[in-house]
Amino acid sequence: MAVDKTDSAEGCLDIPEIGTRGRYDALMQVLRNRVTVRRFRGDFTVPAEHFDLIMEAARHAPSGANTQPWHFVVVSEPEKKQAIADYFVAEQRFRAKAKMKFPTPDYRGLATAPGFIVVCSDMRWVEAFPVFPDARFEQQELDRMYRENAERILLQSVAAATMSAHLAAAALGYCVWWVTAIGQENAQKAMRPILGIPDEISVLDIFLFGPPAAEPYKRWKKSVPEILSHDRFRRSQLLSLEQIRDWIKTRRHKVMYRDSSHID
Ligand SMILES: Cc1cc2nc3c(=O)[nH]c(=O)nc-3n(C[C@H](O)[C@H](O)[C@H](O)COP(=O)(O)O)c2cc1C
Repeated sequence: MAVDKTDSAEGCLDIPEIGTRGRYDALMQVLRNRVTVRRFRGDFTVPAEHFDLIMEAARHAPSGANTQPWHFVVVSEPEKKQAIADYFVAEQRFRAKAKMKFPTPDYRGLATAPGFIVVCSDMRWVEAFPVFPDARFEQQELDRMYRENAERILLQSVAAATMSAHLAAAALGYCVWWVTAIGQENAQKAMRPILGIPDEISVLDIFLFGPPAAEPYKRWKKSVPEILSHDRFRRSQLLSLEQIRDWIKTRRHKVMYRDSSHID
């Protein structure tokens, strides 16, 4: 396989002294201000350089076995954006009819997103992770278990690169939108011909970015004590299935669509 030529600075590291706050603070400013919006200013054009900067961030992400199992398709043609948006709006209608009870967002905003990147992966890369390449009959159950985890390794890898891209966009001043409602087989089938994506490749999500059409807002985040244990999982943080279902029923729509100051 051809290996891309890299620039001479590629191998140089610049790791700060432990505890240096400057970079942490700069990073936190980006992390805190990365916000989702679902409608962008359609009159804005993302400079080509920004796509380069964002992809440069994505490619440094860690990945299982350093496979870097990702591929990004930048979509610029308005008809293609519209065709993908149309699919999602149809999906939105299907969900409403099917009474899935998920507070599905308004996907019309996809069509006018200035930054539009489809995130793909080749699931065959799972073979690069610990699996049995030629599982004997008695190894099949074990192989199934390992393959299940290998799939998680692959998905986590692509999510790491995707997150790096989102943070780079946020650092450049853009609002972002991470759309995963695309994983179902029928969505995959609809998406592939629009972008000429081969059957071997899975479309995992879409990354949209741009200036927001309306004022963005900060959503509710759990506090550190709520998400942290030391040495032993804090049982007080374990929710019952009823509690989870109650959260879904009473809070999910609020945390998805409201400012953190409006969550009771
Ligand atoms: C893995 C993942 C999947 C998501 N899928 C969707 C999606 O399909 N549609 C959507 O509108 N938002 C999606 N989002 C965006 C979340 O709804 C959003 O990140 C969350 O409400 C928190 O808001 P924030 O990004 O402003 O912090 C997804 C985010 C992540 C990380």
